[in-house]
Amino acid sequence: MNYLIGIDVGTSATKTVLFDEKGRVIASASREYSLYQPQNGWAEQNPEDWREAVLETLTQVVAESGVKKEAVKGIGISGQMHGLVMLDEKNEVIRPSIIWCDQRTSAEVEDMGKLIPKERWIEITANPPLTGWTAAKILWVRKHEPENYGRCRHILLPKDYIRYVLTGVYATDVSDASGMQLLDVPGRCWSKEVLNKLDIDQELLGKVYESCEVTGTLLPEIAARTGLSADTKVAGGAGDNAAAAVGTGVVKDGTAFTTIGTSGVVFAHSSQVTIDPKGRVHTCCCAVPGAWHVMGVTQGAGLSLKWFKDNFCQDYVEEASVQKIDVYDLINRDVSQVEAGSDKLIYLPYLMGERTPHLDPDCRGVFFGLSAIHTRKHMLRAVMEGVSYSLSDCNDILKDMGIQVGEMMACGGGGKSQVWRQMLADMYDCQVKTVAQTEGPALGAAILAGVGCGIFESVESACDALIFQDKTTGPEERQAGLYKKYHLLYKQLYEDLKDSYKKLAAL
Ligand code: XUL
Repeated sequence: MNYLIGIDVGTSATKTVLFDEKGRVIASASREYSLYQPQNGWAEQNPEDWREAVLETLTQVVAESGVKKEAVKGIGISGQMHGLVMLDEKNEVIRPSIIWCDQRTSAEVEDMGKLIPKERWIEITANPPLTGWTAAKILWVRKHEPENYGRCRHILLPKDYIRYVLTGVYATDVSDASGMQLLDVPGRCWSKEVLNKLDIDQELLGKVYESCEVTGTLLPEIAARTGLSADTKVAGGAGDNAAAAVGTGVVKDGTAFTTIGTSGVVFAHSSQVTIDPKGRVHTCCCAVPGAWHVMGVTQGAGLSLKWFKDNFCQDYVEEASVQKIDVYDLINRDVSQVEAGSDKLIYLPYLMGERTPHLDPDCRGVFFGLSAIHTRKHMLRAVMEGVSYSLSDCNDILKDMGIQVGEMMACGGGGKSQVWRQMLADMYDCQVKTVAQTEGPALGAAILAGVGCGIFESVESACDALIFQDKTTGPEERQAGLYKKYHLLYKQLYEDLKDSYKKLAAL
């Protein structure tokens, strides 16, 4: 039997899973780390925390699995997209990584719009200049921290920093590179035009691979530390959403998924480059060679619920620890006791600004309609509904673009919640399904490594063989009708507050 490892460098934790070639979990480990917010709207993490989390979890799964090291053929890495990691000439990390949900780069995005017209940005990178994407962050460091920029010799994405740690290779894959805004997305290679206009030296960037290509093997010292063989291959891997697509079997036209992790994403596979001319959703290369995907992003999805839990649900955290259950089970129990609509309470999930459909770094969260009748349960339900309205906006844009979705899967931490899946089914007005394999991006990354090592013939055939559907949740007519009315008001609230958000940002 051959074995494969998938690593997912997430925002709240790194999860590492060792699978057999049938996709069964043999051992799994995760490590959490901190997110730092030095200012309102900023978000940073320490790449060293990711490195330690990866090395510890890798060592743990290899030891716990009892599998012979030669049998572990490949490792696939997936990770949070868009984060900026800069290394100096000694390969030391120069500054904390500015991660995907950071919104400090409004001025740089404006500058980018002056250098290349918006339509041309969309033609080349398939997206308009975006505050959370890597290019704007590079420009921010160059402008505000010229000394750091001057020392920079390598620019890497979060999972590609981990690749460097494991293999010593500077490389990326097409799906994650799409989120840097430096890639020619239709051509699947770095854009010389964009790099020239932004004056960024291509030498700083790694080589671009397809997600299932092999990019290197483990460094001997890493093999020794983790208990693996130095012959273990490391594949290109993918950004977390492209990897989650593989891990949920969303690898063919007509298939889509909604993931609720720290961010929320509605993702549809596309064998053609399909671009929203209004730039409201992102088009990226996907992990299937020669294919793309379109995705809408909610900045504060699971982040909203975690924020509420961390600040207002300490008693639940304690109760869950005594009962040895997941704190989110207690939250789901409460939320299911409140009627749809949260008794006229609406939450706008803009804790870190919003991407789809507003592309607005300045908007912020709101509870609208608070009354003395409301309890914490109503607020929790409103948070989950507000996130679902935002995801529903993403789904509506995909429909607007003519993307046919025959099958909508749900995944991520929030996708495990029946209450949340019911909200999505009601608002999307379609069935929402899960797969039996819940490892998402880690499984996707392992499958990509399996293709790279020749264990599987293709990404699609591996998904057919390994991934099975599980639960189906259908829309409930009464709730669906109610949500339609609430959703209209939810949309109106952003329009009403748009100018006030700008004033708030300027204070
Ligand atoms: C996608 C995005 C997030 C991150 C973190 O564009 O920013 O989904 O990948 O998960």
